[in-house]
Amino acid sequence: QATSIPADRVPDMGKRQLLNLLLLGTLSLPTAGMLIPYTYFFVPPGSGGAGGGTVAKDALGNDVTLDGWLKTHGPGDRTLTQGLKGDPTYLVVENDKTLATYGINAVCTHLGCVVPWNAAEKKFICPCHGSQYNNQGRVVRGPAPLSLALAHVDVDDGKVVFVPWVETDFRTGEDPWWA
Ligand code: FES
Repeated sequence: QATSIPADRVPDMGKRQLLNLLLLGTLSLPTAGMLIPYTYFFVPPGSGGAGGGTVAKDALGNDVTLDGWLKTHGPGDRTLTQGLKGDPTYLVVENDKTLATYGINAVCTHLGCVVPWNAAEKKFICPCHGSQYNNQGRVVRGPAPLSLALAHVDVDDGKVVFVPWVETDFRTGEDPWWA
């Protein structure tokens, strides 16, 4: 017990060791961060379709339909789906009950944790190191250096489809860092 580690340090060390292991395993940090809390999003991506887009999948792996989603998700809702490349991506229901034409990639730009939506605060707040993003995913508090990535949301044959966002980030007026 001479070199005992204070109990409150242990989780930190565990995390660090895990990160090191994952780094040695050549996994990227964003991927690593997602693997831990959201393994179930790593079901094989759907065949996609719809002109290069990818059909959004719900937590059970079912295709997301516009009608079905809006019936079960009210104004202001932000709920995770499986997006491009399997990334956990929020669909946003606007206050007028329409589906937003953008989705928000939930992978924290700091070290890749999946960032939950805090409906009470109307922000995305990262549980790992406290970064905060506004209700559109624009970073408002570090250590995250960048806003959450965007994806276009289209509807094709009734299904919700993600398409890569390569245009200007409407939240910052800057080029997208993720494209
Ligand atoms: Fe989100 Fe560090 S990974 S704040």
